[in-house]
Amino acid sequence: MQRSPSAPDTGRYSTTAIALHWLLGLVLVGLLGLGAYMSDLPFSPQRLKLYNWHKWTGVAVLTLSLVRLLWRLSHRPPVLPAAIEQAMPDWQKWAHHGTHIALYVLFFAVPLAGWAYSSAAGFPVVFLGLVPLPDFVPVRESLADALKLVHATLAFTLAGLVLVHIAAALKHQWIDNDGLLRRMLPGRR
Ligand code: HEM
Ligand code: HEM
Repeated sequence: MQRSPSAPDTGRYSTTAIALHWLLGLVLVGLLGLGAYMSDLPFSPQRLKLYNWHKWTGVAVLTLSLVRLLWRLSHRPPVLPAAIEQAMPDWQKWAHHGTHIALYVLFFAVPLAGWAYSSAAGFPVVFLGLVPLPDFVPVRESLADALKLVHATLAFTLAGLVLVHIAAALKHQWIDNDGLLRRMLPGRR
């Protein structure tokens, strides 16, 4: 994305947007893998440690996603080049924007559901073992079971969308050869 409303359109996302895209992309993929791995482990101090790191990193992602969203709302993304826009059938334009919006929604929904699950299960989140975060749901077993399922379902939906997103980016790069990927790569303006 992102230029402020008065800045010229370079056809590329800004350095801040690119940095946040790749940083959060890497961390989110790591959290998806860690979440799936740790929840299958037998009870042990190692499992507890991984759970804590998963929670803390998830809360950091939530905070960075808020920064990213605020940046996105205050800086206009580059307009899609006319040639790319014209080559896309309507469903692809819809999928392009729809996937991005759904990803942004999940950047919040997934960690908030994880946080709520942790609270409902009676394990309040203490960020880095230092900063206790508030519980915004009561401790209740039935609620915890439901939130665990919600967290897992939303997380796997996010994983599915990420795969679609990456496949689309690679299609633009290698099949359409239209330079869309360059909009999100660091480099000279
Ligand atoms: C965007 C950030 C996050 C992603 C992508 C993510 C992803 C995942 C995934 C894929 C699982 C495995 C689900 C399963 O196989 O059943 C999981 C489990 C878990 N997540 Fe997250 N998570 C995120 C944030 C958080 C946060 C912020 C918390 C709590 C503060 C949290 C707490 C948990 C817990 C406690 C489990 C284990 C559930 C169990 O025991 O089966 N997650 N997460
Ligand atoms: C190989 C990995 C990836 C590639 C090649 C890639 C490529 C791209 C490209 C080219 C764009 C700009 C599309 C446009 O010009 O309109 C973009 C946007 C975006 N990507 Fe990725 N991406 C990757 C991984 C990820 C991951 C892992 C996530 C999230 C977990 C993600 C989330 C997003 C979001 C939310 C946008 C929209 C940005 C905005 O308009 O604010 N991407 N990506």
